[in-house]
Amino acid sequence: MLASVDDIVNVINNSSNIVFFGGAGISTESNIPDFRSTDGLYNMEYDYPPETIISHSFFINNPKEFYRFYKNKCLKPMLNAEPNATHKALSKLEKEGKLKAIVTQNIDDLHHRAGSKTIYELHGTSFRNYCTKCGKEYSIEEVVNDKNDIMTCECGGIVRPDIVLYEEPLDDNVVSKSIKAISECETLIIAGTSLVVYPAAGLIRYYRGHKLILINLSKVPNEDEIDYVYHGKAGEVFSRFL
Ligand code: OAD
Repeated sequence: MLASVDDIVNVINNSSNIVFFGGAGISTESNIPDFRSTDGLYNMEYDYPPETIISHSFFINNPKEFYRFYKNKCLKPMLNAEPNATHKALSKLEKEGKLKAIVTQNIDDLHHRAGSKTIYELHGTSFRNYCTKCGKEYSIEEVVNDKNDIMTCECGGIVRPDIVLYEEPLDDNVVSKSIKAISECETLIIAGTSLVVYPAAGLIRYYRGHKLILINLSKVPNEDEIDYVYHGKAGEVFSRFL
């Protein structure tokens, strides 16, 4: 059913075992564009569709073009971003013992920077990078400051971000912890995600309760199965918890 901000705040106030499932819409209020909104990454013009560029085979065959897109369109906005009201409120709810886990599709590290501890990053993180040949790790600053078209390790291998590219599987350990948290929680909050990218979107099917909340600017598939639906910005709800 359609719900108001007050309705959602009430459900959250009366819950003691909450899990949060989020996506790129959680960071738009930190000025990181999402993927599928009209001003999102997927509605800009590139030589290749972004889903193609951030795929495993594209990275292997066109690392130079991958790096150009990834550095300019993904990394740059992330580096200048700060946690917003939603990131901060979730961290506060965790400290209060109410929020048990954040399951996120985001790779921007903003939940960590807001102080949250139990975070399952389904699509990895841009803040870890490693050599595909010897495994040596590199920081995001080293990747950003690298002046070459393709970042290579001192051993000669290509360095890549520890993110899940299209065509690559999710990390089993992250998935099983996410499923456990979702299947055991009292309240599941889904926010800032179009719920169209699988297998991530399929994880919400493990929820067994009757306090399923959606906070999203636009409609998502199967919305009529959701107990409380608020169409608006996540910050409008979560600023109430700061
Ligand atoms: P999308 O861009 O597909 O969806 C973001 C959703 O957030 C949209 O439905 C927006 O309406 C909504 N939104 C935007 N700003 C919001 C706000 N302030 N408050 C509430 N809702 C807001 O992003 P994801 O669902 O995260 O995968 O995309 C899933 C995956 O697709 C990403 O993890 C990425 C991408 O390809 C990989 O890179 C593997």
